[in-house]
Amino acid sequence: MPVKLHGRSREQRYTKLADWQYVAECSRAAHPLPLYGNGDVLSWEEYEAKKAASGVAGIMVARGALIKPWLFTEIKERRTWDIRSSERLDLLKEYTNYGLEHWGSDTEGVEKTRRFLLEWLSFLYRYIPAGLLERPPQRINERPPAFRGRDDLETLMASGNCRDWVTISEMLLGKVPDSFEFLPKHKANSYG
Ligand SMILES: Cc1cc2nc3c(=O)[nH]c(=O)nc-3n(C[C@H](O)[C@H](O)[C@H](O)COP(=O)(O)O)c2cc1C
Repeated sequence: MPVKLHGRSREQRYTKLADWQYVAECSRAAHPLPLYGNGDVLSWEEYEAKKAASGVAGIMVARGALIKPWLFTEIKERRTWDIRSSERLDLLKEYTNYGLEHWGSDTEGVEKTRRFLLEWLSFLYRYIPAGLLERPPQRINERPPAFRGRDDLETLMASGNCRDWVTISEMLLGKVPDSFEFLPKHKANSYG
């Protein structure tokens, strides 16, 4: 079992980038135990650069996995995947099916699946389509200027408005009642 290290203190939250120099120091100190570093990886290029520069045995990915669940494919295949909005919707359909399978497809199961989907959408909207980037790769701490997607769904998926996440959930799980409200748990540290 490798040792795992977050290169950032809890007090720092997400306001600064992780300290990969410190991760490298710890990796040397932990030797011969394998150390896994963690922090700010959102592209296969960053994964490779951070791994090589710090000498860690491996890297954990947290927000990157939520913002870009296909990141692991990119890392494995060493390529940027300009994934289309329809393919992203397919991922959400797959997730929804798993949710209904796990929590049931009665009202309670649907609403539980929806809550988790909405929390996930509060991260997913931060993805900037690779094909639209002026200076790739996307960095985790960069807040993009408002942009228009290459189709309506891509534009909708980039919205930071909770109401639009509810709309996406309705495409997959049906209408919400008028009184429905959603506030993401991780709102405060989405970018900050
Ligand atoms: C949804 C979410 C929940 C997390 N929960 C915890 C937690 O309970 N305990 C903890 O030590 N870190 C938690 N973290 C922090 C991550 O483990 C990780 O250290 C941090 O996000 C930095 O990695 P990243 O830059 O790849 O996101 C959480 C992160 C996210 C995105």
